[in-house]
Amino acid sequence: MKVSTFFKLAKFGVKTVFFKKQDPILGTVILTDKCNLKCKHCSVNNITSVIYPFDQIEKDMQRLFDMGVRILFFCGGETFIWKDGPYTIKDLVHKAKQMGFLIVNVVTNGTFRIDLPEADLILLSVDGDKEHHNAIRGDTYDVIMKNIEEATSDNICFYMAINQLNKDTIADVCAKAQEMKNVRAVSFNFHTPYPETEELALTKEDKRNCCGVISRMIKNKVPVFNLRSAFPYLIENRFPTPCRQCLVIENGKISVCGRCIDVPGLCDNCGYFFVAEYTLLFKGKIRIIADMLRTYLKYV
Ligand SMILES: C[S@@+](CC[C@H](N)C(=O)[O-])C[C@H]1O[C@@H](n2cnc3c(N)ncnc32)[C@H](O)[C@@H]1O
Ligand code: SF4
Ligand code: SF4
Repeated sequence: MKVSTFFKLAKFGVKTVFFKKQDPILGTVILTDKCNLKCKHCSVNNITSVIYPFDQIEKDMQRLFDMGVRILFFCGGETFIWKDGPYTIKDLVHKAKQMGFLIVNVVTNGTFRIDLPEADLILLSVDGDKEHHNAIRGDTYDVIMKNIEEATSDNICFYMAINQLNKDTIADVCAKAQEMKNVRAVSFNFHTPYPETEELALTKEDKRNCCGVISRMIKNKVPVFNLRSAFPYLIENRFPTPCRQCLVIENGKISVCGRCIDVPGLCDNCGYFFVAEYTLLFKGKIRIIADMLRTYLKYV
């Protein structure tokens, strides 16, 4: 991370904590819900299959920027499917940087060729060892690993959604990350039980075990892009929700925190680590602040 970026984000943090402000800093633009996969745990793919045009995405980015967002994620559906005439995801990352976003990340399923050195991080979903990943994501593991090996940059971070099907494969994902030269870190979420995926939800005991394994990984020097200090809150779902500093925009419609904000009761069972990490950070929890500084300076 550039020193200037660090100081801008630190200034925002100090203002938010000391003056209890709720201004947004992190935003996600949904490019499409179209996807080439149909993962077992996912409720947001291929609902309309509309790919939003470049002009709409540009307007969405500008709105977030004008509201104060400086950390931007592109998400879907599948982001690497996004195209409008000559424009691809690469042009969107360029545009976002040009607009002034400080950190620009892209979330992808990794099934397409990866040539995106412009992104700060490519969060690439890997949901277990080959057997469990393929059980969740179809027969995609080998092609994803080949794409990672042939990627033109080393800004890839594995992104694992832990659920009932893959909860015992955390160490395998970490080992694979350590083995691959283009993978910088691993980041985790717990399954968020959207309607019709409730059976994949983890119990409190499962979450405790998973956090134990992840903590061991951190101790063993696995690059984990999460805050260990947030684990006790994640295990008990004891963090404030929703995240007021996080926005999502899809085709001009803005939601606070996630697209899931309207699903009754879901926030009480939220599994997204970023929600716990950011809400606790902005509550001024000292251990979270220290952990966040260490982690972001290391991996972004
Ligand atoms: C919706 S996908 C979109 C980007 C891309 N298609 C991908 O799979 O990475 C973004 C991330 O959300 C995760 N995800 C999907 N459903 C989830 C759920 N119910 N709980 C937690 N994470 C979930 C996916 O595993 C993926 O890492
Ligand atoms: S690849 Fe991503 S968007 Fe597509 S079904 Fe899987 S999790 Fe959902
Ligand atoms: S807190 Fe609620 S709106 Fe935010 S990501 Fe979690 S479930 Fe979605």
